[in-house]
Formats: sequence, C-alpha cells, structure tokens
Amino acid sequence: MSPFRVTRTLPEDATGAALRADVRSGLTRTPKTLPPKWFYDARGSALFEEITALPEYYPTRAEREILRDRATEIAAATGARTLVELGSGSSEKTRHLLDALTGLHTYVPVDVSESALVLAGEALLEERPELDVHALIADFTQGLALPETPGPRLVAFLGGTIGNLLPAERAAFLTAVRALMVPGDALLLGTDLVKDEQVLVAAYDDAAGVTSAFNKNVLAVVNRELAADFHPDMFIHVAVWDPEEEWIEMRLRSRTAQTVKIRALDLAVDFAAGEDLRTEVSAKFRPDGVRAELAAAGLARTHWWTDAKGRFALSLSTAV
Ligand SMILES: C[S@@+](CC[C@H](N)C(=O)[O-])C[C@H]1O[C@@H](n2cnc3c(N)ncnc32)[C@H](O)[C@@H]1O
Repeated sequence: MSPFRVTRTLPEDATGAALRADVRSGLTRTPKTLPPKWFYDARGSALFEEITALPEYYPTRAEREILRDRATEIAAATGARTLVELGSGSSEKTRHLLDALTGLHTYVPVDVSESALVLAGEALLEERPELDVHALIADFTQGLALPETPGPRLVAFLGGTIGNLLPAERAAFLTAVRALMVPGDALLLGTDLVKDEQVLVAAYDDAAGVTSAFNKNVLAVVNRELAADFHPDMFIHVAVWDPEEEWIEMRLRSRTAQTVKIRALDLAVDFAAGEDLRTEVSAKFRPDGVRAELAAAGLARTHWWTDAKGRFALSLSTAV
C-alpha cells in the first residue's frame, strides 16, 4: 500500500480484457496494428525514460526548456489549485510546474503504467511531503473520471503524447477533456512540430538502439500476458515519416515468413516476410492545426510557446 493515494478506476481485469481485444483485432486485420499504450509495462516505462535522455530525442529537452521558461506565466494565467497530468510517466518535467504553482493543493498524475505512477509518487512524497498526490491508474481515452479536488484545475498533457492518437481519436479525446473542464480551468498541451524528416526519423531510430528495444517490448508484453511466442529478434524496428499524414510510424517488420501463436486467444497469426506491424503513430503538428483541433473541441487557445529552436510547442487553452 502506497503512502500516497493510488486509485484504479478500472476493474482489475479491464486491462487484460482490453489487451486481449486490441491484440485480437489488431493482429487479424491488414495492415496489422497495436495501440502504443501496451508498450508501458515497468520495463517499457523505464526504456521510455532512457529514450528521453538520448541525443537524438529532442522533444523532452525542448519541452523542458519551454516549461522552465514559462512555468511562472502558466501559473499566473491559471492560478491552478489542482494539476491533473494525463500520461504523466515519471512526472520529471512536471516539477517546473509544481514549483511555479504556488497555490497548488493537489496533483493528480494519470497513467496506464502503475510502475511509473508508483515511482513518481514515491519521489514526490519525499520531495514535497506537503503536496496531496492522488495518482490514478486509468486509460485517458476511456471515460476519465477525476477525483473531487479544489479548482481551478490545470489539465496538462505533455510529451507530445497527443500525437499517438489518430485524428478521430484526438477529436474525441479533446472533446472528453473539454467536458471535464469548468470555466476557469485550463488545458496545457505539448505538441511536437513538423520539421526536417531526418531529425524526426533519428528521434525514433536512435543509434544506441534504445527505441528499438522499446518498440519490441510490446512483443514481450503480449508474450507474457497472453502466452504468445513472438521472437523479438525475428522483427526489425523501423521508423518511417509519412509526409501526407505528417506523422512518424513505428513498425516491427517481420524478417521472414513466420507464424506466431497467441495461446490465450487460441490464435495463430501469419506474418509474410517483410510484413509490418504498426505499433505507434506520432503525429507532428503545425500551429494552425493545433488551434483548429482545440477550437473544434470547444477550447480557445490563449497562449502558444515554442522552444528557442522552434521544435516543440506548448499551448494553453480555456473552455469556451
Ligand atoms: C510518450 S510517454 C510521455 C511521458 C511523460 N508525459 C513525458 O512527457 O515524458 C506517454 C505516457 O503516457 C502513458 N499512456 C500512454 N497511453 C495511455 C493511455 N491510453 N492512458 C493513460 N496513460 C497512457 C504511458 O504509460 C506513458 O507514461
């Protein structure tokens, strides 16, 4: 039992049932896909933290720079007493906000990764014993319900994670976030920006192979949870820029023709040689596109900040 509050908003088996449904539907369609949330068991969350420190992975450094420079402005504009953070992971960059929000009462980190929430919560408890931390193990795409906490609320969605949702999913997600907000609340959104293809591809295909290990971790999750027999070495990590959609795709490419058995689903999945399984999209944004998507969900963008090199943006929006 953790000394800070951790609430699981889903029934115990919901995660297992959702994984089974996603694996069955994603691996029996063409092209094959899996949603990125399944990367993040304890090892996947630790590998993501390693990615954030890689020389090629600029988004974390760029977003941290904006948070460091703008946290005081964000605090003044919102006066938040509750900070809700969706997909909070290690909550590492969040410390700039926690420092600046002087009237903050409660921090609500929300993540599917229980291990990430527990590690982050324990560190925060030690650093800031006065802060009320109420962690939520939840899927932010599935009818999120927030605890009763003092307003105004600032909902932060950092890391460019919104780019992992497909356009229709993004619209539904932003509409759901808007529905959680009352006048005076605000949304702080991190979006990675369209840029040179080489820079983008390198960020998802680093020389040290950490992103490859992260990508293949989803196979280890399916092996463990659903008694499957994926051989990660039989797949190659691939990162591709799609200039039409303006997103990076992470894929796992089958080295040979092979059949993978998923015993818990009583399923055999055939892969052709060179066939791709898409494991993540990471959409990159333009300023007008972000404003339009926010507006379509009933959110008015009031601030737009980028890092000095113009690689990443943070925007602040209020409910209209
Ligand atoms: C790209 S990482 C970003 C982590 C952190 N916000 C940052 O900026 O470094 C995405 C985080 O969102 C979490 N996540 C992914 N999909 C999720 C979902 N559907 N519901 C809740 N959390 C999710 C992952 O576990 C992970 O911690």
